[in-house]
Amino acid sequence: MRNRMIAGNWKMNETYTEGVALAEGLAKELEGGTGDVDVVVCTPAVDLKGVSEVIEQHDAPFALGAENVYWEEKGAFTGEISPSMLTNVGAKYCIIGHSERRGYFHETDEDVNKKAKALMAHGIVPISCCGESLEVREAGKHVEFVVDQIKKDTEGLTIEDPSKYVIAYEPIWAIGTGKTATADDAQEVCGAIRETLAQIFGKETADGIRVLYGGSAKPNNVAGFLEKEDVDGALVGGASLKADSFAAMVKAAM
Ligand code: PGA
Repeated sequence: MRNRMIAGNWKMNETYTEGVALAEGLAKELEGGTGDVDVVVCTPAVDLKGVSEVIEQHDAPFALGAENVYWEEKGAFTGEISPSMLTNVGAKYCIIGHSERRGYFHETDEDVNKKAKALMAHGIVPISCCGESLEVREAGKHVEFVVDQIKKDTEGLTIEDPSKYVIAYEPIWAIGTGKTATADDAQEVCGAIRETLAQIFGKETADGIRVLYGGSAKPNNVAGFLEKEDVDGALVGGASLKADSFAAMVKAAM
């Protein structure tokens, strides 16, 4: 069985000070625990240490994640952050291949693949994002497009523990737009993702990998997605920036 996962993606919001306050608020909201739901909060790099301290102080029921990583171990890569730097400040998860990074910063499937391998070698769980543009969706090629991304992003990956590799399906046209995919749209692609994972890694492994939906997921629509067989949770942008709305989504998943 797969535990559900609700993961927040703060993006380039929340200064260190704001981030600590938001994490404090979330620790309070989730004081009663999160049952079997794995909760992750992915923060800007400069917030990681502060949020990690909040989690420790409150014994908070959520884990820390980063929003990006570079695959090299160390050296002359000005501005980049290595997997060891992430583990050192307590990060257990890291988003890779987000459409904003693919779009604005030219991250390729090959980069996503290298990042996944580097993270997994350090025991950090990748939350590997995929998803099609509106153009691809309107051409009816969304399943094909996402399946191709999954194949490239997982090439040569060894997955020993399927709970330690997470995929997020985020149709680009639904991110931050208020326009959600329907639960059936999400299921169509998440189901195809799991079939592809089964072809690559075998059914047992594929059945253990969480596939999240992301794109304008909110407290009032998350339950509909979670009802679907192959949707195991949500990657949440906007609605993760308020402790009460994010906590409401966690509670909807419990
Ligand atoms: P959104 O962002 O919930 O604001 O649409 C989701 C994401 O980009 O991860």
